[in-house]
Amino acid sequence: MVKTKPKSKAIIAPSILSADFSKLGLQIREVIRAGCSWIHLDIMDNHFVPNLTFGPPIVSTLRKVSTKAFFDAHLMVEHPETLIEPFAVAGVQNLTVHQETCVDNLAVVLREIRSNGMQCGVSIKPDTSLETVRPFFAEIDLLLIMTVEPGFGGQSLIPSCLNKIREARKIREEKHHKFKIQADGGINASTAGLVVASGADILVAGSAVFNGKSVAENIDALLSQIS
Ligand code: DX5
Ligand code: ZN
Repeated sequence: MVKTKPKSKAIIAPSILSADFSKLGLQIREVIRAGCSWIHLDIMDNHFVPNLTFGPPIVSTLRKVSTKAFFDAHLMVEHPETLIEPFAVAGVQNLTVHQETCVDNLAVVLREIRSNGMQCGVSIKPDTSLETVRPFFAEIDLLLIMTVEPGFGGQSLIPSCLNKIREARKIREEKHHKFKIQADGGINASTAGLVVASGADILVAGSAVFNGKSVAENIDALLSQIS
């Protein structure tokens, strides 16, 4: 008899920030083979956050590894509006921008992301209130609640951020909004259950997927906590 895995209450979106950059293509194949369909791409500009990663040319190369994976780009950059079209062309399906980088033009930026054929998301840092993005809840596909300060993998989850996840979930149910709630930062086998119980639908995990044991074992350990 074929053993089926228990249904998970949330999905895991591996962040390749913690992958081995010398073999990114292979690492993406590994997470797909382990059952993940989302790939989280952390785009950092060394201005909005004190770290620098990669841009559209690398994403477009990674697209060749899998035509089916859902590329979820998290833009931690100033002036994200300048990168909308390049990331659409590179093959991204969801583009998330930070509220803190679009204080005066978030509505326009979200519309621009959609008109480039992508889903749109908005993210808030741990100290940014949910109220800043509440007016956009009917427009977005994804709300990314940072559970660490953006910039680096391997940090510990800030427990107070879970209140924002609970509150966002409550508002979504009350108002019948459709956006998915994504949590990002410090998610591992010890914290994943709590994050899902708080109301998250998508868990971004970097170091918990790529460090320690094999990618497949790490993903199974995460899924066992949320199934
Ligand atoms: C941090 C990034 C995260 C990061 C998470 O700014 O947005 O996606 O990769 O890493 P871990 O899972 O190690 O906290
Ligand atoms: Zn991220």
